[in-house]
Amino acid sequence: MALFNKIASRLGNCVKCRGIASLSALPETHQMLQKTCRDFAEGELKPIAAKTDREHLYPKDQIKKMGELGLMAISVPESLGGTGLDYLAYAIAMEEISRGCASAGVIMSVNNSLYLGPVEKWGNEEQKEKFIRPFTTGDRVGCFALSEPGNGSDAGAASTTARTVGNDYILNGTKSWITNGYESEAVVVFATTDKSLKHKGISAFLLPKPIKGLDLGKKEDKLGIRGSSTCSLIFEDCQVPKESMLGAPGSGFKIAMMTLDSGRIGIASQALGIAQAALEVAAEYASKRLAFGKPILKLQTIQNKLAEMALQLESARLLTWRAAWLKDNKMNYTKEAAMAKLAASEAATALSHQCIQILGGMGYVSDMPAERFYRDARITEIYEGTSEIQKLVICGNLIKELAL
Ligand code: CAA
Repeated sequence: MALFNKIASRLGNCVKCRGIASLSALPETHQMLQKTCRDFAEGELKPIAAKTDREHLYPKDQIKKMGELGLMAISVPESLGGTGLDYLAYAIAMEEISRGCASAGVIMSVNNSLYLGPVEKWGNEEQKEKFIRPFTTGDRVGCFALSEPGNGSDAGAASTTARTVGNDYILNGTKSWITNGYESEAVVVFATTDKSLKHKGISAFLLPKPIKGLDLGKKEDKLGIRGSSTCSLIFEDCQVPKESMLGAPGSGFKIAMMTLDSGRIGIASQALGIAQAALEVAAEYASKRLAFGKPILKLQTIQNKLAEMALQLESARLLTWRAAWLKDNKMNYTKEAAMAKLAASEAATALSHQCIQILGGMGYVSDMPAERFYRDARITEIYEGTSEIQKLVICGNLIKELAL
């Protein structure tokens, strides 16, 4: 936090505030954080986003600088090396970073919510000391390995096994679609110790990486977020001490679900950043592009589009901030996080689609960022639970609330 304050005060005065969501009712810290992140995104991320995407480059230097700004461990307590801010702050920072570069956004999101989140909540003192502090600075990132080639949405059907041998566990199985899979130096991985217990047999493990018995699969060639790596993790007789378990035996499924509740706020915020960028590019282009003797911004048809885009974006932002606020105030937010992710990811896809439409041919070529926004947006409807899964979660909670 001290580090964040120092850097924020240095950057705070030279920020570009145009298009920034109105935060005047929020605490000064949140407003300052937003300005800091926007300035960083303008100066350091926007200029490299196209190349990062085109050449599949991991933005190592930028992630390091984000670590220096305190963005790689926003809600981790200061006593563990984190920034000690709340989840609303995390949501705001995630949006701003993703507005500049969605690949940097997902790298940050996975480290903050899917990796550091469970280690901080369920790790013992020794695990926290070893696996948190070095991952707060941007020098190292972690990853989260839940999905498998045969089980994506049905997370409870995990078939990766953890067999007890003396004082060790031996892990076997393949985890897929692992964001930060290549660069990560630690992994939270889920494996079953007893398949007959179904989800109650799943436990979480916290392992350093690289480690004997763990191989990386091929780097996926993706449609979007191409600056982040995605690959499989292949466990073949990976022998780890019993102390590698994270949380209680058999609690892995709940750890995964609760971690994903938080993660979905991060992905919703990433989607908001993409949507905000799409709205700004579309509006700016419309103000300059002449047709029928005037800027197309003066045409009602374009104004309708921009109004609908702004409405969808603002609605999704309110849902996202509400979910973060509920989490910060220790209230149940499972349904609200699912709503936020669903609304924001659909907004990102819809707004980047309309951005291309407003730009016409210029939207379809890589001279402008619209086509990249469109490609980056699509994954937000898939990872950390597809839109269809979010609807299951929303309706499941609704049924409980209505006692049906
Ligand atoms: N918090 C706490 N507990 C929860 C919970 C939550 N949010 N959701 C479920 N549970 C508990 C239930 O209370 C239940 O507990 P009991 O056994 O004590 O009764 C238990 O978990 C089982 O619950 P369900 O019967 O509802 O579980 P299910 O098998 O029907 O699955 C699901 C529910 C919502 C479909 C879940 O499987 C799910 O979220 N799937 C999607 C997984 C996902 O998002 N994967 C993305 C992976 S990460 C990624 O994308 C990669 C990356 O690197 C970015």
